[in-house]
Amino acid sequence: MPIKGFIFDLDGVLTDTAEYHYRAWKRLADELDIPFTRADNEALRGISRRESLLLLLKGRAYPEETLRKLMERKNGYYLGYIREMTPQDMLPGARELLIEIRNAGLKTALGSASKNAREVIERLGIAELFDAVADGYSVTRQKPAPDLFLHAATLLGLSPTECVVVEDATAGVEAALTGGFYVIGIGPQERVGKAHVILPDLSKVRLDQLLARLPVSV
Ligand code: BG6
Ligand code: MG
Repeated sequence: MPIKGFIFDLDGVLTDTAEYHYRAWKRLADELDIPFTRADNEALRGISRRESLLLLLKGRAYPEETLRKLMERKNGYYLGYIREMTPQDMLPGARELLIEIRNAGLKTALGSASKNAREVIERLGIAELFDAVADGYSVTRQKPAPDLFLHAATLLGLSPTECVVVEDATAGVEAALTGGFYVIGIGPQERVGKAHVILPDLSKVRLDQLLARLPVSV
């Protein structure tokens, strides 16, 4: 089946909010006196806010009310970082690829676990480049479950085999593969090695070259 749509993860694919998520978690961890390194943060990529907090706490038990307050605190730090974002904060090549996909008559959706995704795409000035948005409010089961991408495909009116998912997180690549999508992994082999195509980033990526590299049966 030919490819008819692309579903893009946001954080770490279209913009470097992955760094802001790291800084916000790091600030919280420092305040709680919990060791937290960039290597620890890798396990949080693509993972929901709640699951991320539980991983950061490394088994320390807190009452539900405290967990909620800690998530709120981290999100407050994160919102402080993204408030400064402008269209200049798109990663190289990302806007150009989105536009090329749309000009080719293919559909585009956002497939981000973030509850802040709509605010980020507004600040980046790319909200109108998506036919559909699936975000942290769209489904209950988060990545690595395939639900978010399946929801995005449904919004586009496409089946998974007609869609390519672009992801930077191990959990996101797994979610897309489980859902039966074609997957482009952005980042190092050890993180996105299971994707059909692996790219360091989206700079200088041309749509026709990308499609030619996918194992799509026509
Ligand atoms: C994902 C990020 O896109 O969204 C994760 O990769 C983040 O790092 C998750 O935890 C949830 O984001 P938010 O903005 O709802 O806390
Ligand atoms: Mg990501």
